[in-house]
Amino acid sequence: MLLTVSKRLEFSASRRLRVSYWSDAENLRAFGPETNARYGSGRNYVAYFVFTGPVDPTTGMLINISEIKERAGKIVRARFDHKFLNEDNSSFRDAPPTAENIARQLYVDLAPLFSDVEAKLCACHLTESPECSATHYASGVREVNYWFEFSAARRTMSPRLSADENARLFGSATLTHGHNYRARLTFRSERFDGKDPLVHYDAIDACLRALCAELDHRYLNEEVIGLKDRPITTESLAGYIYERVKTTLPLHRVRLHERDDFFAEAWEGNTVFLGLQEPFHAAHRLQAATLSDAENSKLYGKCNNPRGHGHAYLTEATVAGEYDARSGTLYDFVALKNAMAESLEPWRDRHLDLETEDFRDAPSTGENIVRALWPKIDNRIAQRLVRLHLWETPNNRFTLRRM
Ligand code: NI
Repeated sequence: MLLTVSKRLEFSASRRLRVSYWSDAENLRAFGPETNARYGSGRNYVAYFVFTGPVDPTTGMLINISEIKERAGKIVRARFDHKFLNEDNSSFRDAPPTAENIARQLYVDLAPLFSDVEAKLCACHLTESPECSATHYASGVREVNYWFEFSAARRTMSPRLSADENARLFGSATLTHGHNYRARLTFRSERFDGKDPLVHYDAIDACLRALCAELDHRYLNEEVIGLKDRPITTESLAGYIYERVKTTLPLHRVRLHERDDFFAEAWEGNTVFLGLQEPFHAAHRLQAATLSDAENSKLYGKCNNPRGHGHAYLTEATVAGEYDARSGTLYDFVALKNAMAESLEPWRDRHLDLETEDFRDAPSTGENIVRALWPKIDNRIAQRLVRLHLWETPNNRFTLRRM
């Protein structure tokens, strides 16, 4: 199992996407019309710094998140926030400040700052807009994500099942209804080329236009030729988008959100995942039993308030398994939802340390909460959990992955 802790930081900056020795036409193909912004264009960026390492059994922490905020914040303020990146940050003299290059530079600038702690920076993720984000991993792998939206009507059903089977499996979802879908296309490369974006603007623009022309404002069961004879489920639709894009671009995976809190992912070789979110509210206090009051106060800061504090926690479970091509389903959505709700029920509107059994001997840090929650959900769904996220706040995320 791999545990990671992620800290979110915001900054704003301007940037110009242009390579000086490329022609205007080459720049336009690579970066789109924004390349013509003479003095740069602006973005409100959100950066996520992801750490991995062992959890200290005394403190219950992999890394003190306030340390990330402190050290990363200093670099972000000095080199990125409220800057014209091309001129104020020498790193972008030769590499245009695309999301991928900024994510990489944040990683390069930050990784050495944590050489004194056991936790290691393993990835930097950067969101530059709702449509585009990128990740740089410690391994050198980089990813870029493009999001697009479409609205469509459907009946959830499989033409390969009988009417009775469809009614049993999908219930009222077999009635005609609609969703505002949000899809994410992820491209991945192990080779770094500072100038060339991983996917050129003209290629991704043509790809997204073609997908929207095909899917947006359609009745998916009848108006999309490619979907004829396919199950109309979120898993099947994600797989369809994967197959369509893969014919023209080196796609790595697709995520398709039917709602903000429910998605399917399609990877190579018919590999499918399902993700579902479930919130819960609770109070807690961070306090390590073996440390003195002064040590606790210094370590946990405001989280050590003797009277407690609380969070609107959000959990997200991702499950894997055998995709059933006949029904178009990976896992029973209702069973997954029930497993998460039952697992969280004993914690709802409770003080985690005083009113539950799970944190008698370990502080209720995000690391310990996500580790306590994993077996509760996993045992209810036949060990099909592959990833579990816990957001304590939108800024602090704790993740366990099955390796
Ligand atoms: Ni807290």
